[in-house]
Amino acid sequence: MVEPTLRVFPDAGALAHAAADLICAEVRAKPEAVLLVATGNTPMPTYAELARRAAAGEADFGRVTAVQLDEYVGVPEDDPRSLWGWMERAFVRPLGITRTVRLSDPATFDAELRALGGIDLAVLGLGPNGHLGFNEPPSNPGAPTRRVTLTPASLESNRAYWGDLPVPQDALTAGMPVILGARRALLLVSGEHKREILRRTLTEPPTPEVPASFLQRTPLTVLADAAAAP
Ligand code: GLP
Repeated sequence: MVEPTLRVFPDAGALAHAAADLICAEVRAKPEAVLLVATGNTPMPTYAELARRAAAGEADFGRVTAVQLDEYVGVPEDDPRSLWGWMERAFVRPLGITRTVRLSDPATFDAELRALGGIDLAVLGLGPNGHLGFNEPPSNPGAPTRRVTLTPASLESNRAYWGDLPVPQDALTAGMPVILGARRALLLVSGEHKREILRRTLTEPPTPEVPASFLQRTPLTVLADAAAAP
């Protein structure tokens, strides 16, 4: 088993800069890289730094394919809660990406990814309950791309994104094999509230109760700020 690499940064800004460096290096080495990208708050400073680099002509994402990680069920794309909408505003458009794989039908999604040859780089956040995408606990490493009912913990943590709007109860998620099969994964973790779940993710034997713990068996780099570092 490969040991995950853990890099700790003084703050979220430094983490974002380092994450952007790694993503740009991947795209320089393989301009047509297939990137699986999380929404959520954690990667936003990283995406903003990538957008800055794209606007400055320091990076070119024109041949990259961006793959959606998760989506609520029953939310049209012009709804403010659409995760596709969030991904488009924060990542796809500002980086000048034209090739995308959206998650709306699990079978089509998996077939599209197979045709592309899988994920080169997964940029992931860590759910406060250990979920990856919306692979809620318990999820085993074989849990496929599918529809899930969100756990109370995820409904609660996602509430922070949407103000007064209710959090949809059901979601689609890229399956565990899609995520764990990425040739490389970056797990971005910031904030004190993630420290304990990050400790479990990295140091406990992999368990469905902490789906992210299965990343221990993959080529993983964890970028954490000091508040989240175990
Ligand atoms: C959300 C999303 C994940 C995200 C995670 C962490 O529920 N489903 O894709 O990575 O939880 O979110 P945040 O970065 O806002 O803590």
